[in-house]
Amino acid sequence: MISFDTSKPLLVFGGPYSNLQATEALRRRADGLAIPPQNVICTGDVVAYCAAPEETARYIAEWGCHVIQGNCEQQLAASAEDCACNFEDGTECAALAKGWYPYANARMSDEMRAWMGGLPETLPFTYGGRTFRVVHGGTSVVNRWVFQSERDVLAEELALAAADVIVAGHSGIPYITRIGQGTWFNPGVIGMPPNDGTADVWYGLIREIDGCLLLSTHRLAYGHHAAAATMRRSGHANAYARTLVTGLWPSLDILPPAERAATGKRIRQRTMRLGTQATAQINAAISP
Ligand SMILES: [Fe+2]
Repeated sequence: MISFDTSKPLLVFGGPYSNLQATEALRRRADGLAIPPQNVICTGDVVAYCAAPEETARYIAEWGCHVIQGNCEQQLAASAEDCACNFEDGTECAALAKGWYPYANARMSDEMRAWMGGLPETLPFTYGGRTFRVVHGGTSVVNRWVFQSERDVLAEELALAAADVIVAGHSGIPYITRIGQGTWFNPGVIGMPPNDGTADVWYGLIREIDGCLLLSTHRLAYGHHAAAATMRRSGHANAYARTLVTGLWPSLDILPPAERAATGKRIRQRTMRLGTQATAQINAAISP
């Protein structure tokens, strides 16, 4: 198990999704915060909806941050025929995956497939006296959708966690929530906005400040028009190119009612302090 010292923050993020421009912007943000690659952790799905699958995978690999496998890495490493995203048959998401997954699969080098196949499925670590575990979707199922409003699902997943904090990805919307003694931290994804009507993408930080351990979610503005233009130029223009600009998902199929109802509502940045029970969750807003 990795034991990070708390002299520097950890930067955590999900879903680069073949969005090279956003991934480059995230690296610039990490550099600006003086966070070295060994303190950066990706929750998987390096390759998905956008225009630059091979380039984004290579960029992440060369950056040298920690990465765990998402369902996309597992499927591409196996040269599988679909993304195994857990979209239901007949839904818009499933139909869209028939466009972007073959596009990515056709462009992936053997070298990058081997890199994906060699990534770990999970990453346990300690930071500031707390135990963490990084997963992609659910604690034991790589492609499970885990949303903030589904408290029974979260309780079930946290019961399997074997860690104080789960850092997860896959579902694409940033949140930090607590059930009992467990904390679920989804820092959001860097490759696609979270359906809040803005083009910004999201990452998270884990920091110790004045003896307090802080989990936080953060917006990142980047050259989203250029990313969308790259998709159109590649001939890979699809509904997700519009999403990069409008900040609205092409389909709400996977969302529970509460998250669906939040469509187009600007998401606030959040901070949770892990401390005594009295200070367990302050959810103090930081200015967006
Ligand atoms: Fe995923």
